[in-house]
Amino acid sequence: MVAKELEALLSENRRFKPSEEFQSKANATSDAYKESSEDRLGFWAKQSERLTWFEPWTEVLDWKPPFAKWFIDGKLNACYNCVDRHLKTWRRNKAAIIFEGENGDGRVLTYQDLYREVSKFANVLKSLGIKKGDRVTIYLPMIPEAVIAMLACARLGAPHSVIFGGFSAESLKDRINDAQAKVLITSDGSFRKGNVVPLKANADTALLGVNCIEHVVVVKRTENKVQMQEGRDLWYHELMKDAKIVCPAEPMDAEDMLFILYTSGTTGKPKGVVHTTGGYMVGVSTTHDWVFDLKEDDVYWCTADVGWITGHSYIVYGPLANGATVFMYEGTPDYPAKDRFWELIEKYRVTILYTAPTAIRTFMKWGPNYPQERDLTSLRLLGSVGEPINPEAWIWYHKYIGGERCPIVDTWWQTETGMILMTPLPGVTETKPGSCTVPFPGVKMEIIDQAGNPVPKGSGGFIVAREPWPAMLRTVYNDPERYVSTYWSNWEGVYFAGDGAKWDEDGYFWILGRVDDVINVSGHRIGTAEVESALVDNSMVAEAACIGKEHDVKGQAVVCFVTLKEGFKVMDGLDDELKKHVAKKIGALARPEDIFFTAELPKTRSGKIMRRLLRDIAEGRALGDVSTLADASVLDFLKKKYNEEE
Ligand code: WT7
Repeated sequence: MVAKELEALLSENRRFKPSEEFQSKANATSDAYKESSEDRLGFWAKQSERLTWFEPWTEVLDWKPPFAKWFIDGKLNACYNCVDRHLKTWRRNKAAIIFEGENGDGRVLTYQDLYREVSKFANVLKSLGIKKGDRVTIYLPMIPEAVIAMLACARLGAPHSVIFGGFSAESLKDRINDAQAKVLITSDGSFRKGNVVPLKANADTALLGVNCIEHVVVVKRTENKVQMQEGRDLWYHELMKDAKIVCPAEPMDAEDMLFILYTSGTTGKPKGVVHTTGGYMVGVSTTHDWVFDLKEDDVYWCTADVGWITGHSYIVYGPLANGATVFMYEGTPDYPAKDRFWELIEKYRVTILYTAPTAIRTFMKWGPNYPQERDLTSLRLLGSVGEPINPEAWIWYHKYIGGERCPIVDTWWQTETGMILMTPLPGVTETKPGSCTVPFPGVKMEIIDQAGNPVPKGSGGFIVAREPWPAMLRTVYNDPERYVSTYWSNWEGVYFAGDGAKWDEDGYFWILGRVDDVINVSGHRIGTAEVESALVDNSMVAEAACIGKEHDVKGQAVVCFVTLKEGFKVMDGLDDELKKHVAKKIGALARPEDIFFTAELPKTRSGKIMRRLLRDIAEGRALGDVSTLADASVLDFLKKKYNEEE
């Protein structure tokens, strides 16, 4: 348990108001805050009308902390809501998915096409014995079949467990076993920067340690040679050839499981976060509509992988329930060149872009020339998610990508929350770079101190929720005790998932980072986000990671790892300049003891900086669990360099 509250030190005074034009056409208005604060459950009851229910619910919420049930007795199907119901409208011929592959190949699926593919694949799964309640593991690249497979599972009421294609055989094995999945859907490979990642071979290795899988369905994507085990392994395209188009959508209870999504705990066994159907669908469709201000003619691009919650909620379930046109891209931003994203935005006239701070800081590092050479004028709204966005990265995004005309929505949420919980409403909220602003209408968040009391404005503390929200996780798969102990045990009846935040004078929230990463200098608890933002504020710095290293006098000293923008070299005296800069922006107590320059920082596969490993390096320990690390070579380099300079 944490010892003291966090201090809030950095201040940011820039403000951005939505333009009058944007405001006048916005989907959500300030009434939403008023209505929801007067009658929170009534607000969510009204939002539930966005969905098509087979049978209406009888009660909005049944709350027996920490177990919530939403939309009691309501019956619906998530796939039906994402696909079938649009066929009764003009949207049947609207593009649901516009796909481009890494090699430049492309496909467009209208809602009618999506319906046909999904229903056929649902029949395929049925023929393999999948029925309501059975788990299906999906291990695919970012190709339309990933979405088709998810929706086909939802159609049958078979919870899916999507495993990001960057995970190893070992991780895949653990997750298949935990879910006891009956079918695995994978592909012959996945393109990555011109190479092929052998997904099927990884799956074969994983399955050596698995007994529950009866069949493996293999999508042909790369023409990579694979071994097919007789009787167990089947080609997707062959199964689909004769599959029937009609497959009724299973009526599901609002509280039936829609999917499991694994998220790594700090140590050991991954947690299977369980999301259910009714509340989740209401939560993601409402937030998607209002946060992204979705219009019928938008081309919406969320750059996350479907293997993460961002992909589940804001590539698949939210956007498709809302009848959006979703652009989907298979590859990375730097292949074949560093302007790939901007090329795609120009080509498809993308209007909404939702990406992560790690990507934005990488673009900053590469310099503004790449976006400047492309026509990005179609963009009208930008989003950010995954980590605190440093104010300078926010400004860069605003200027070079948004052409100073697009509102930015900095959306705070988690795998566990299922839906965005804190965010600006783009036509309503005045934004401040680096702040995720305020809770979404109908959501209540608080910042509390160690004793569980709300902190006064201007102070920092722990970000928590006391009231459930529709898309919140219901449990940890097969482990309700872990659900209670991980999320609801720090304070009685309070949800805490690990972030520190401050509240400013206007009641805006500023995420300070994970509390496990907090740096304690002479009794002052400093959030990593503030020191890092002060460094990124320097025009040469692209990215920074700060940690606390044991110190005889201060308890901990601030140590920083810094990446420079392209074209800048480490000069003599730069470390002193940066130390001074931090002291000036935040205060002398945050002045870094050491600064190390590096070309890369260790990150998770979803792009979050792994400060824990930097602490291990700085304190000369053996490295802890590295299974979530994206690129292990970064660590060897850092370790060597750190030891040389120390
Ligand atoms: C953690 C959750 C939610 C989708 C992607 C990540 C951090 C997320 C923000 C933001 C500051 C953020 C938090 C949170 N985070 N969004 N806008 N500002 N921090 O999902 O992998 O479950 O991670 O990501 O630390 O707790 P996740």
